[in-house]
Amino acid sequence: MSKLREIIRREIEACGAIPFARFMELSLYCPEFGYYERLANTPGKGGDFYTSVSVGSLFGELLAFQFAGWVEKTGLNRFQLLEAGSADGRLAADVLNWFKSRQPHLLERMEYWILEPSLTRREWQKKNLEPLAAPVRWFDSWDKLPSSGVRGVIFSNELLDAMPAHRIGWNAQIRNWFEWGVGCEAENFVWVRRPPDGKYQGPAAFDTPRSALRSRHLPTLPAELLAVLPDGFTTETSPAAVEWWRQAATVLKEGTLLTLDYGLTAEEFLVPHRAKGTLRAYHGHRPNDDLLANVGEQDLTAHVNFTALQSAGESAGLKTEGLFSQAEFLKRVAESAWHAQSAFGGWTAARTRQFQTLTHPEHLGSFEVLVQTR
Ligand SMILES: C[S@@+](CC[C@H](N)C(=O)[O-])C[C@H]1O[C@@H](n2cnc3c(N)ncnc32)[C@H](O)[C@@H]1O
Repeated sequence: MSKLREIIRREIEACGAIPFARFMELSLYCPEFGYYERLANTPGKGGDFYTSVSVGSLFGELLAFQFAGWVEKTGLNRFQLLEAGSADGRLAADVLNWFKSRQPHLLERMEYWILEPSLTRREWQKKNLEPLAAPVRWFDSWDKLPSSGVRGVIFSNELLDAMPAHRIGWNAQIRNWFEWGVGCEAENFVWVRRPPDGKYQGPAAFDTPRSALRSRHLPTLPAELLAVLPDGFTTETSPAAVEWWRQAATVLKEGTLLTLDYGLTAEEFLVPHRAKGTLRAYHGHRPNDDLLANVGEQDLTAHVNFTALQSAGESAGLKTEGLFSQAEFLKRVAESAWHAQSAFGGWTAARTRQFQTLTHPEHLGSFEVLVQTR
């Protein structure tokens, strides 16, 4: 049995079936053994999945061009770009390289901040960004940031889908939601229905009472729909992602908060063809339905609930500029870049190929981009 399986098994022995969100947290982020603690598991050809960043440098260049436009509009003399979920720092390098070659005068007024809780990942990022000699600072949590907060842009790509998600199921007999937990039988991890008010003895962050999960993140369904919702209908909710967005919104004193990811509005989660929820595992570039298999060897990801993020940002005083498809968002940026070729550079064949992948609806074009401002 691997070290990670052993750690999870022991926690189940001590606490009983654990919430799936806790299983996901340990599988992905357990120091030393979690999926994202290993360099081989960064996105790209060698990993288990592609992201817009691994398609090539164009994605970072277009974002950088857009960020430059936004910060110039604010008239800020000094500004920060804060990135979270930087993995090995590739996106940071693409953004910084663009500023270096295209807008060096803005680079002089900028600080690039990376929010990174993992010591291991901070080390990879430092190693990869060192040759750029760029003004980069690292923080391991929101509360370590200067109290002046961020003036500029806070952004992330495919960060929030990787945050621990609770799996919630419908019990048609008692007409109530329950939480899918993970138990252990004969050394195998198995699904267990956790009782609605069952207390979890592990880390408090994962013991979100089910009533709170429901009211905050699931839409209220009409009685007619609840009457036909099949037993075991499953969906998910990530209080960690919503809390992350709330904190980002609070820290942003002036500028833009955006995230690019795959996700849905709250209503879109509760449809017949998503009766098993949106949580997926990725192993060797293939989706795998068995979320409990290959522990620490496969990526786990859930669709982002953009309605929940939007309302968290608005509650913190942000204005929603829009929820766009990645295709729509990048096409608009590319159009401005096209008209400002002296600032952006030529539209090479390589750039064109990357642009097609980033915007094609069957590739990355159907991702969503949520943009909020203060
Ligand atoms: C799917 S990968 C995306 C990596 C990169 N942004 C890209 O687009 O290629 C998700 C990344 O988010 C990181 N991550 C997860 N939770 C995080 C958190 N709370 N703060 C910062 N990074 C986090 C993971 O370690 C992982 O590197």
